[in-house]
Amino acid sequence: MCGIVGAVGKRNIVSILVNGLLRLEYRGYDSAGLVVVHDGKLNRVRSAGRVAELGEKSANTYGETGIAHTRWATHGIPSERNAHPHMSRDLISVVHNGIIENYEALRTELSAQGYVFTSDTDTEVIAHLIHSHYQSGGTLLAATQAALTRLVGAYAIGVVAANNPHQLIAARKGSPLLLGVGEGEHFVASDMSALLQVTKNVVYLEEGDVVEVNLADYRIFDAKGAEVTRPVHVSELDNDSVELGEYQHYMQKEIHEQPQALANTLEAVCNSQSLVPGIFGADANAIFPQVESILILACGTSHHAGMVARYWLEEIAGIPCTVEIASEYRYRTSVPNPKTLVVTISQSGETADTLAALNHAKDTGHTFTLAICNVPESAIIRQSKLRLLTRAGPEIGVASTKAFTTQLAALFLLTLVLAKLRGRVSAEREQQFLHELRHLPIAVQKVLALEPQIAELSKHFADKHHALFLGRGLHYPIALEGALKLKEISYIHAEAYPAGELKHGPLALVDEDMPVVSVAPNDALLEKLKSNLQEVKARGGELFVFADADTHIRSEEGIHILQMPEHAGFLSPILHTVPLQLLAYYVALQKGTDVDKPRNLAKSVTVE
Ligand code: M6R
Repeated sequence: MCGIVGAVGKRNIVSILVNGLLRLEYRGYDSAGLVVVHDGKLNRVRSAGRVAELGEKSANTYGETGIAHTRWATHGIPSERNAHPHMSRDLISVVHNGIIENYEALRTELSAQGYVFTSDTDTEVIAHLIHSHYQSGGTLLAATQAALTRLVGAYAIGVVAANNPHQLIAARKGSPLLLGVGEGEHFVASDMSALLQVTKNVVYLEEGDVVEVNLADYRIFDAKGAEVTRPVHVSELDNDSVELGEYQHYMQKEIHEQPQALANTLEAVCNSQSLVPGIFGADANAIFPQVESILILACGTSHHAGMVARYWLEEIAGIPCTVEIASEYRYRTSVPNPKTLVVTISQSGETADTLAALNHAKDTGHTFTLAICNVPESAIIRQSKLRLLTRAGPEIGVASTKAFTTQLAALFLLTLVLAKLRGRVSAEREQQFLHELRHLPIAVQKVLALEPQIAELSKHFADKHHALFLGRGLHYPIALEGALKLKEISYIHAEAYPAGELKHGPLALVDEDMPVVSVAPNDALLEKLKSNLQEVKARGGELFVFADADTHIRSEEGIHILQMPEHAGFLSPILHTVPLQLLAYYVALQKGTDVDKPRNLAKSVTVE
């Protein structure tokens, strides 16, 4: 979603702003813009197209202080006039990520004061509000703080003033923003990838923080206005981790990074002889023995990871588990059990619905909270008592891939730790599971070797408008994930069903134009699944079966088989995810879509 970059330096910072926006492109956007302060004036450049176009348009612009933005439209169509930065009377300029819920009332009030609105955005009220305070004297910091007290909603903002060179004010509440600490220059950005070009030193701003960014220093004020000190971290990211390298797309790169991402996520446990609660944080030793049930809250792909975990937690750990879509849970009246462990799963750790669901759970009385997340210091991590970081590295492609498989690995660890505490895993079985986990990166590598065959299979999908995905048990969520990947990046309508549900409705859809993809692991439900596949074949459907060895499902007219290298038992969902990711990727290539930035979607969904 919207991306923010800001800089205060003693050199022309335009290229820093543009390069920073290029790094944030993956978040999803429809227009871009920047403003710099120079000679007592605000110079604004905006583009309704890509950041590259903004770069060309601003090639001759000079400024040592500025803010820049990629916009993902919420209020007002994608257009140059709605692109940020927004201005107030050529004095104040603002970029904003988030949604101001009371913008209509503020707009009426500010219009009555004579402010003229030139866009349809909620953001423009922030610029005029700050202007209304600033014009009556005082500092830009004080004017911004005063304006923020009037805002209801979520925001990360950057603010500059024409008569205030070498200073910018930034603030966050509900949307991510961090401060980059340089030498004699400072920066702000929505995420670290935008700042790796200039610094690795980062301060993660807390909810409600306002920061005054100057050339030589910066001052941070908390939600109550008190000046505070926040730790400076050295980011572990490096520029290479956000480069495409030999790959055509980030999605392809990230699919191929899965063996390493899994090895990194499992590093701590794979090098040890046994599993201990401490990997989830110091408090886990006290909390886990009290846990009676699990409630998993997440969105999209992360929700699918939770659905797989439910099968593991109930079968292996014998613990009741509910999985809910965060955006539903947050508005539902539910009955809390204080002995429930609330697990949020999120790649970004900033997803507004998941964050709100976590807070809703806490408001209803839950105190045991655990975050499984890929971004250290993200809001979800900071607001949870326990955490396990998936160490997938930055995920740039909007379609989540390596984050999903590492979430599954983390959730499997949770299952094993709880199962052990409940006396459901013998020492021998624990060693066996650890062995299987250590083998996982190699097993995934073998699946990746099927890429040429999957590329070939994908040709059958390019002219199709619909596809059906089937799975059973543990692999039903994998069918859901496969369908989500396909629809997200190829724009082919795809639906997933538990295979047993076919005859209760979706079978009516099956004909030669509806390819049916089936996940067919060699597990207890295999024979049932085979019967379901026959039902499809009998109706003239064309089947694409991702089958484990020894399933004895053979290629024949109307049945295409992709033979998986090995069966991974409980870890099979991780292996079976990979060919479905590759299938979606190659179908999207055939269709010529924007694989890494599919239309209408954003990487971090930081608004509701
Ligand atoms: O960052 P999160 O894991 O919280 O994001 C949740 C969803 O927005 C995300 O998984 C989305 O469904 C992906 N684009 C799917 O590929």
